[in-house]
Amino acid sequence: MKHSVLSILIIATFCTLSQAAEERDPANYAGLKMCRICHKKEATGNQFGKWEEGPHSKTIEVLGTDEAKAVGAKLGINNPQESPKCLKCHSTAYHFTEKIQTKKVKVEDGVVCESCHGPGKNYKSKSVMKDREAAIAKGMIHPATKSCKLCHNDTSPTWKADRYTMADGTKVGFDVKQAYEKIKHPNPEADGE
Ligand code: HEC
Ligand code: HEC
Ligand code: HEC
Ligand code: HEC
Repeated sequence: MKHSVLSILIIATFCTLSQAAEERDPANYAGLKMCRICHKKEATGNQFGKWEEGPHSKTIEVLGTDEAKAVGAKLGINNPQESPKCLKCHSTAYHFTEKIQTKKVKVEDGVVCESCHGPGKNYKSKSVMKDREAAIAKGMIHPATKSCKLCHNDTSPTWKADRYTMADGTKVGFDVKQAYEKIKHPNPEADGE
């Protein structure tokens, strides 16, 4: 009995993870420039500017560091900036796979809005975006925190199991709450999350 409950739980977790990647159709990417058009105004939070300052705009740059080269060398990878094994998580264009899946997003743009919010071709119009239910129906992922673990997981070669410290002192590799605080880009005019 205990066993079957456990296996159902394991299967359920597995399905949720693979479903999360599937509900995003790579044919629907709109590209960074598209999101930038409407999301760079200070009054509504300048999400583009916050992204530019944050870690996800530097995911290709970081693959050029000595640390990245050392990590790559151990895996037989010469140039991490060109290796699908790294770009899988360091570039939206690879769409969580080892092959480029869209030309709408440039590899050098790194991890853009749509890796977290979902490919935006069908939800990017103003009328749809203002209506959360409509946007979700057209492919917007909400809450976007559902996306983090597609990349922030222990298959990453630089995964550190003690990167984050919880309130009770426990160490974990990723804590969505603390990580979100570091990258958040709220709209001061909206009523929150
Ligand atoms: C034509 C203008 C326009 C474009 C293009 C656009 N947005 Fe928006 N977006 C809006 C407006 C207006 C809102 C509602 C006010 C707000 O939250 O900023 C919005 C809201 C959002 C929200 C909050 C939705 C919610 O219900 O919490 C997200 C997330 C978002 N946009 C992401 C994106 C992404 C990613 C792209 C690129 C694929 C994009 N937007 C392109 C105008 C646009
Ligand atoms: C499963 C997704 C994934 C893959 C595959 C991946 N990375 Fe990363 N990488 C990440 C994430 C997420 C971070 C941010 C640190 C964190 O929170 O784990 C990161 C951070 C880094 C850093 C910064 C150092 C650090 O610890 O923050 C380097 C260097 C790096 N990766 C190199 C590589 C190289 C080289 C490859 C290919 C051999 C690679 N990564 C493949 C997800 C991945
Ligand atoms: C690393 C993941 C990630 C990236 C990259 C990212 N976002 Fe977000 N964004 C989030 C999360 C998480 C929230 C909180 C709400 C939610 O969970 O959907 C959010 C919230 C928003 C909101 C709603 C703000 C509010 O207070 O109503 C907008 C608008 C938005 N993002 C636009 C963008 C745009 C435009 C880009 C690219 C320039 C971008 N985001 C990049 C994860 C991300
Ligand atoms: C498509 C893959 C991908 C997704 C999805 C993603 N990240 Fe990242 N993230 C990365 C990579 C790669 C880095 C390393 C960039 C660097 O070191 O400059 C990183 C770095 C970070 C960092 C800085 C390192 C650290 O842990 O302090 C934070 C914080 C972070 N991400 C938070 C988030 C949050 C929160 C989400 C979900 C809302 C998210 N990320 C979704 C790939 C991703």
